Amino acid sequence: MIGERIIEVAVLPSTNDYMKEMWHKLSHGTVVVAATQTKGRGRFGRVWHSPEGGLWFSVLFKPRKMLKPHFFTRACSVAVVRALKKFGIESHLKWPNDVYCDGKKIAGILTESVFEEDVLKAIIVGVGVNVNNDLPDYLVEKSVTMRELTGRKIDTRAVLRCTLSELRKLYVRYNHKPEALTRIWKTLLIQKEGSNIEFVAGDSILRGTLLKIKEDCLLVRTSHGNLEVRSTEILSS
Ligand code: BTN
Repeated sequence: MIGERIIEVAVLPSTNDYMKEMWHKLSHGTVVVAATQTKGRGRFGRVWHSPEGGLWFSVLFKPRKMLKPHFFTRACSVAVVRALKKFGIESHLKWPNDVYCDGKKIAGILTESVFEEDVLKAIIVGVGVNVNNDLPDYLVEKSVTMRELTGRKIDTRAVLRCTLSELRKLYVRYNHKPEALTRIWKTLLIQKEGSNIEFVAGDSILRGTLLKIKEDCLLVRTSHGNLEVRSTEILSS
C-alpha cells in the first residue's frame, strides 16, 4: 500500500537519489521523506531549493502491472492539488505537472524511471511542496509557500499524510482506468484545449491556439504553422 512504510531522514542529498539506490530493497509504495535536501533536483536538471520547513519526499512504485510513468506523475500532482485544498488552498496545474497558486509555483514533481536491461522496473516520483520554508530572493517572485498563502505555520507531516491519502485513493480508483485520471488531470490544467497560449520560440515570443494537450508536448497552431511546445517555453495561457 502506498505510504505503508515511510522512511524519515533528517538530511539527504535527494530523496529521488535515495530511491534510485535503494529501490530493489524496498517494496511498492515506500515513501522516503527528508527534512532537508542538499542536492534537491528539479526537472531539466535544475536545482530544487530544499531547506528545512518544506516537504520533500519520493514515492516508489513497483506495481505488478506497469503503467506509463505519466500515470504516476499525474496521480501525484492531482493528489497534491487535492491535499492543498484540504488546507484551504486552491491550486492548478501548469502543464505538465507543476502546481501553481495565483501564478506562483507551490509544488513540483520529478518522475524518474528505473530500467534493467531495457525493462521498466520501478518508477520514482519525487514531490517538493513549499510549506513553511523560506524562499531565496530569486524565487520570491515566482514561487509561494503554504505558510504565505494561509498566514500560519503548517504541519508538514499533516501535508504528507493528506497527500498520501489522496494518492492512495486515486491509485486504487484509477490504476485500471488511467484515461479517467487523465480526464481529471486535464480539468486541473491551467492550459485548456482551444485557448490561446504564449510561449518562447528561439528569440521570439509567439502566441497560438492550443490544439491538443499531448503526453510530451502541447500542439499549438501559430501563424508559423503547428508547433510542438514544451513546458520550459510556456509563458502564459
Ligand atoms: C520541478 O518542478 O522541477 C520538480 C521538483 C521536484 C522536487 C522534489 S523534492 C523531493 C524529490 N527529490 C528531489 O531531488 N527532487 C524531488
